[in-house]
Amino acid sequence: MERSIPTFDSFKGVLRLPGDKSLAHRAVILAAIAGGVSVIGNLPQSDDVNSTIRCMEILGAKFVRISNHTVRVFGVRGELKTPEAPLDCGNSGTTMRLLAGLLAGADVSATLVGDASLSKRPMRRIAEPLRRMGADISTTDGHAPLVIRKRRHKLTALHHVNPIPSAQLKSALMLAALFTEGLTAVTEPSKSRDHSERLFAFTGLPVSAMGVKITLAGPARPRPFTLNLCGDPSSAAYFAAAALINAKGRIQCENVMHNQRRLGFYRAVKNMGADIRFDSTRQWGCEESCRITAKSSRLRGIEVKGRQALDSLDELPLLASLALFADGMTEIRGGKELRKKESDRIRATTLMIKTLGGEISELDDGWKIKGPQTLRGALIDPCGDHRIAMTASVIGTRVAGIRVKYSDVVKISYPQFFHQLDKLAKGIHL
Ligand code: S3P
Repeated sequence: MERSIPTFDSFKGVLRLPGDKSLAHRAVILAAIAGGVSVIGNLPQSDDVNSTIRCMEILGAKFVRISNHTVRVFGVRGELKTPEAPLDCGNSGTTMRLLAGLLAGADVSATLVGDASLSKRPMRRIAEPLRRMGADISTTDGHAPLVIRKRRHKLTALHHVNPIPSAQLKSALMLAALFTEGLTAVTEPSKSRDHSERLFAFTGLPVSAMGVKITLAGPARPRPFTLNLCGDPSSAAYFAAAALINAKGRIQCENVMHNQRRLGFYRAVKNMGADIRFDSTRQWGCEESCRITAKSSRLRGIEVKGRQALDSLDELPLLASLALFADGMTEIRGGKELRKKESDRIRATTLMIKTLGGEISELDDGWKIKGPQTLRGALIDPCGDHRIAMTASVIGTRVAGIRVKYSDVVKISYPQFFHQLDKLAKGIHL
């Protein structure tokens, strides 16, 4: 579906965000393998999370919707059923990689498949350490389908040193470790997002995190739990960004996850001179939550790299777009992994900005952008990527005539995105 993005005279409102997608995948998986009944609230209705739910249902867990956003989960105490057909992970890399670890550990044979985009993403990085733990797992030339076969022996504990920071890899090995005798450890070159560590501890699992190394003593099963998910900071970022670049912008996002590994985008825009505030910080289950207020701001170019880039990974295309409205040069580096996401996000962002008549230099691991620039409306193809579709829409709140092709792709993480944008356009508080 093609969608025209309305420009805004004023971008004002109060928003509640659906639960964080990363945390939701993990909560669904742990609840499904727990020995009892769990309740998960503020569950995002994202296609990716629904892929994880459907797979865990086929593997034997039962999910009963109590309301639109709350689900009761009847866990199987780690005793998963062997599925009769391939498990479809859709577009979701997190589903495929986390389930690869879980199923390699559990006594189950299964095939994991995904859509065209997921079938191009690298899977050797997950199969290889699992194989070293004794798993019988094969890829198709380093990609999906992944085939996991039941083994005669349990996995053996491993100390894996990850060549790249990746929360999906770390979490897959942690899930495999739940079925492994002894101490499994994962060390990363720098710390990736830590939701698994937090949720594992919250559900009573023997995990310990020390800097870049985490260890888990297996075998172990999670306790059932009740968890209300805090709002997704990656989804909130689009509305905060729109408030920053619009003349009368003021957006308040309530109950957003406040986790340093997910706030890189917000720290970066603060460095750009953004008027952005965090308050009402409090403990929220295994995470902290906060209120984020973003106001119309004059932005200046900055340099983003290393830790800052890693902590804003999924938001780097959005940050590149804000650079179009900032004074001076912005250089974003350290985003090499963006080439292996739902699309090649470095290429897709360059194409989007060029289609809008903007100037951008593409680097191997990021971009250089000099602002401010004058852009023109155009039809944007998001390259099948939800984050590119939402980024183009943010620019569209400022630049007249932007249309987004295949806009339904936002369902991957944020099905209500356009509905919320339309309401804000009418000045309705959400
Ligand atoms: C995710 C981890 C990140 C991120 C992805 C979700 C997760 O990928 O880009 O959208 O939920 O674990 P990495 O595996 O590269 O850290």
